[in-house]
Amino acid sequence: MSLERLDKLLSSTGRWSRREVKDLVRQGRVLADGLPAARPEDKYDPATAVIQVDGQRVDCAPYAYVMMDKPAGLLSATEDRSQPTVLDLLPPELRRRGLFPVGRLDKDTTGLLLLTDDGPLAHALLSPKKHVDKVYWARVEGRVDREDTDALAAGMALGDGQRCLPAGLEPLGDGSECLVTLREGKYHQVKRMLAARGKPVLALRRLSMGPLSLDLSLGPGNWRFLTAIEVDTLKK
Ligand code: URA
Repeated sequence: MSLERLDKLLSSTGRWSRREVKDLVRQGRVLADGLPAARPEDKYDPATAVIQVDGQRVDCAPYAYVMMDKPAGLLSATEDRSQPTVLDLLPPELRRRGLFPVGRLDKDTTGLLLLTDDGPLAHALLSPKKHVDKVYWARVEGRVDREDTDALAAGMALGDGQRCLPAGLEPLGDGSECLVTLREGKYHQVKRMLAARGKPVLALRRLSMGPLSLDLSLGPGNWRFLTAIEVDTLKK
């Protein structure tokens, strides 16, 4: 159990500054475990405390975890001068929390994107040493075959000579679609691997990242918070 100051708990939701929390407490608008909070510096356990502002329960979880079905046309970035980003799909209070995408999908790639403000978890998920598999569905020009599967499994070289770790390739149906499994995240990696095999990618969608699978009921452009079970399995 680690205790946090009330002003820190409430300001970390992105809804109020510490100064505003001070005022809310002074005005008697904050209840902690059913009693009016006395001082902003009093400490509570974020996992168990019931904090209310103006009678509304406030979620004071230390981190937020969002699953998005990224649509085509948005950048996987927190901001950009001229183009819309995935953050534009989130409400202001989540944007203020400082959520960021865990890894990047290309502008035209769709599918599973995790957004969080949990830096240590993001770092662990992206570290090549942790071997977090990412599975992509791809539609290609031409048809992938056994030779392509063997080439990816052997750890192929990209057009510029860069070597990849062994990767999975499972043809689907007539081979114009396939599943690609990567353990790393080089720039445009799936597109560059399949292009190097003479099968350029026409459409790409990420289906999973480690134990986290895209919730297909979301549909491109929609998001939801991860369930507690999803967060726990990711942390393992
Ligand atoms: N590989 C790609 O080529 N693009 C992506 O967006 C993700 C993986």
